[in-house]
Amino acid sequence: MTRIAITPSRPVGRIDRTIFGGFVEHLGRCVYGGLYEEGSPLSDDRGFRKDVLGLLRDLRLGVLRWPGGNFVSNYHWADGIGPKDGRPRRPELAWGGEDSNRFGTDEFLAYCAELGTEPYICLNMGTGTLEEALAWVEYCNSARTTYWAAKRRENGRGAPYGVRYWGLGNEMYGEWQVGALSAEEYVREATRWGRAIRMLDPGARLIGCGKTGWTEWDAVVIDGLAGLVDYHSIHLYTGSDDYWTNVLQPHQAERAIMSARAMLQRAAYRQKLARVPRIAYDEWNVWYREMTGALEERYTFADALAVGTYLNIFVRNCDWVRMANLAQMVNAIAPIVTSTEAATVQPIYYPVLLHAQAALDTAVDVHVDGPTVSPDLPPEATRWPHSVADLAPFTLVDAAASVTDHMDRVAVTLVNRSPAPETARVVLRDAAFGGTATIRTVTEGGDGERRVLPDVATARLTEGSEVAKDAVLVLTLPAQSFTVVEAAIAAA
Ligand code: AHR
Ligand code: AHR
Repeated sequence: MTRIAITPSRPVGRIDRTIFGGFVEHLGRCVYGGLYEEGSPLSDDRGFRKDVLGLLRDLRLGVLRWPGGNFVSNYHWADGIGPKDGRPRRPELAWGGEDSNRFGTDEFLAYCAELGTEPYICLNMGTGTLEEALAWVEYCNSARTTYWAAKRRENGRGAPYGVRYWGLGNEMYGEWQVGALSAEEYVREATRWGRAIRMLDPGARLIGCGKTGWTEWDAVVIDGLAGLVDYHSIHLYTGSDDYWTNVLQPHQAERAIMSARAMLQRAAYRQKLARVPRIAYDEWNVWYREMTGALEERYTFADALAVGTYLNIFVRNCDWVRMANLAQMVNAIAPIVTSTEAATVQPIYYPVLLHAQAALDTAVDVHVDGPTVSPDLPPEATRWPHSVADLAPFTLVDAAASVTDHMDRVAVTLVNRSPAPETARVVLRDAAFGGTATIRTVTEGGDGERRVLPDVATARLTEGSEVAKDAVLVLTLPAQSFTVVEAAIAAA
């Protein structure tokens, strides 16, 4: 049995909806043939696939990052505005494709408005110039009568879009990045860019380009940019055919948070900063099978357990993690998959959906006490060079919890990694449940689930309820399952 003790009166931090964020890149069939398909009977008159929009809307994304990723480092945004037939077709260096530029800034911002999500634009620090970046910010955000603001009006959009989030480059450390830099070079460039962008748009929220949170690159970039940026970014991908490695590797996000947070606090202390930048996990997911081409990863239910764990970790650490973007959303390493006839979801869609629906205002303290696992995690079983072996033991059940501002409701997300069912005894400290709890559980799909696309695995979502007794709720978590418990908290 696993005991999960939740203390509603001990807040961890407010949950920023931007931790339930997404990312779409011009890569494979993510944009073209994914969320955007001109002339399809499934699309609206702007070319937005309505079926994809519906599935994405349910995820209640707090923010959507675009246009890359590696793609952005040779993307010239001004190619993607104005009449579509006049837009140039360009070679794309990161993934070896071509871009028609028919989906550009105005299309992306219209898409975000349609979804009800905040846009986050990543700037091209590879082949792009500072002048070009400033023009982009002006085009999106300026209310003045200057050239690029006037261009926006000419293209049909009067009011400024008010794009708040701007990324200072993508993975500028990697040899796969067009125009990669050393950490010192990056700090110098990003400082020039960040200062100038703030001059144009003081409300801009800047994201500095971090790595995995514990590297020398992170240390140099944090020391160099802590006084300028609002967020330090971390990218983390995990995954393995080895079950335990796959489901436990997301815990390295905890190490990354601890490490980045310590470096951020140290920089803030040494530099006497009044405001400490927070962490943006602006790319995270399970990704290890399809490493080249269109990255059309096919996900299993074990991957869904990993994804549920990532989100639990972001909720548990929401005082420091203020943004997280699932990479990516459609077709390329994505929860949503399309064909020309249909759109459907992979198993990883469900934890994202249930987390986004369940999360309340404030994350609160959770203590898990129960059977643990310390598996042999062979380092060679993972594509990514990080092991979590040193973080063992791991509880079989991973948990996160949140409450409303009025402390009248609680939501608990539980990942049971065990290959056997596990009894969970959920206990509220200094509080009591207000009656029956709603339980939603997702497990691997069986024969009963309709397969929309032949090669996409299904999952089974069941809904039920459980009566709580005072402060205690006992439930059985099926083997390898993700569960959300939602309940009222009794008035004191
Ligand atoms: O999400 C796929 C790729 O992963 C992104 O383009 C890049 O930023 C990262 O390496
Ligand atoms: O697969 C290409 C690159 O390899 C990714 O963009 C990067 O994250 C990884 O190292």
